[in-house]
Amino acid sequence: MLIAETIRTKRDGNALAPEVIEELIRAYAAGEIPDYQMAALLMTVYFQGLDERELAAWAGAMLHSGEVVDLSAVPGGKVDKHSTGGVGDKVSIPLAPLVAACGVRVPMISGRGLGHTGGTLDKLESIPGFRTDLPVARFVEGVATVGACMIGQTDTLVPADRRMYALRDVTGTVESIPLISASIMSKKLAEGVSGLVLDVKVGSGAFMKTVERARDLARTMVGIGTRHGVKTVAYLTSMSQPIGWAVGNALEVAESIEVLRGEGPDDTTALVVTLGGRMLVLGGAAATQDEGEAAIRRAIETGAGLARFRDMVAFQGGDVAAIDETSRLPRARSRRDVPAPLAGYVTGIDCEKVGLAALVVGGGRRRKEDVIDPAVGLRVRARLGARVEGGDPLATIEYDDPAHLDDAHALVARAYRIGDEPPADEPLVIDIVE
Ligand code: URA
Repeated sequence: MLIAETIRTKRDGNALAPEVIEELIRAYAAGEIPDYQMAALLMTVYFQGLDERELAAWAGAMLHSGEVVDLSAVPGGKVDKHSTGGVGDKVSIPLAPLVAACGVRVPMISGRGLGHTGGTLDKLESIPGFRTDLPVARFVEGVATVGACMIGQTDTLVPADRRMYALRDVTGTVESIPLISASIMSKKLAEGVSGLVLDVKVGSGAFMKTVERARDLARTMVGIGTRHGVKTVAYLTSMSQPIGWAVGNALEVAESIEVLRGEGPDDTTALVVTLGGRMLVLGGAAATQDEGEAAIRRAIETGAGLARFRDMVAFQGGDVAAIDETSRLPRARSRRDVPAPLAGYVTGIDCEKVGLAALVVGGGRRRKEDVIDPAVGLRVRARLGARVEGGDPLATIEYDDPAHLDDAHALVARAYRIGDEPPADEPLVIDIVE
């Protein structure tokens, strides 16, 4: 294959043949194409995009660059949910066991924190002993016996993405809708699911800042899923303030348990009920969205979801006592309030800054090799529309090491806008793409 010729073809705005794309991705994953040529090609895709046929070939080749989990021996619907990333987005943690408790299995392969956003794996690992590095065979066993299992990417699933994502990260080619879509969808399709609900976040705390771009991403991902025979639906949901009150790994696990106990924040519970209801429809356990949502609410009220979460934690080696008594989860030693500078209403929250504040006190990584502190983060004290007096806490930072406390404080202080009038209510679900 003449890579330079392929780069020129795409550079000049012509489509690549599916066989060329398949060979390109196979050869790159096998180490036969150097990074400098792949980087040039990725940049041409960034500028020229991929048409539908090219995208189908690209995503398919990524998917088949490694192992595809075989869940055919596990009966019933198998449905996952994927979020494009947000701040305080702990939804997967209560969602997976609730959906499993309602009869639809959830094979979930999640990621770590990326930039200012938190990652489900980091959150789950704040439960003492919890293992997210199970081999694929044990993952399949967890899906079959517990009904839900949540692990991280393995070396054998979509190896082409592992290499390509690292290259995109350092060559300015992450923010491309076809490349993001192929990267996310190839990993989700490799789970062997029959249905997928995508939560595409929009707003100040999301990677997609506008509804138009989020809708474009949603349509592209739904297209890939559908072409691969997976029932795929995307929700566009608001990320203009953190989800719930807790931002930080152990803090978010504790809040997830509150959701499972029926004591969770309204927005978090609403998202879990909406997305869970749709997962039950896709998995064949509910005929309508209303029926699905009612089943999820019942699983919260009866404690069935919480019981399933305990089973999942036990299966994955975690300390179940920390679920029953969340005071056993890691807890930061110190707190500092960020006060409102004046009286008024909270009219805006730059959610990305809030996520970065949790990161800089040690809840996320500045560099790949950083070790995170599971205990730290922050608690939002005033949400959009709240009335505050000067000096009232907007948020409380929970920290162990004071080294970057002032940076975190400044980020939160700059994140809040206070005005004279309350802002207009914004719906949690902005749109649905089917
Ligand atoms: N998350 C992914 O898995 N891939 C991307 O390209 C972007 C976000």
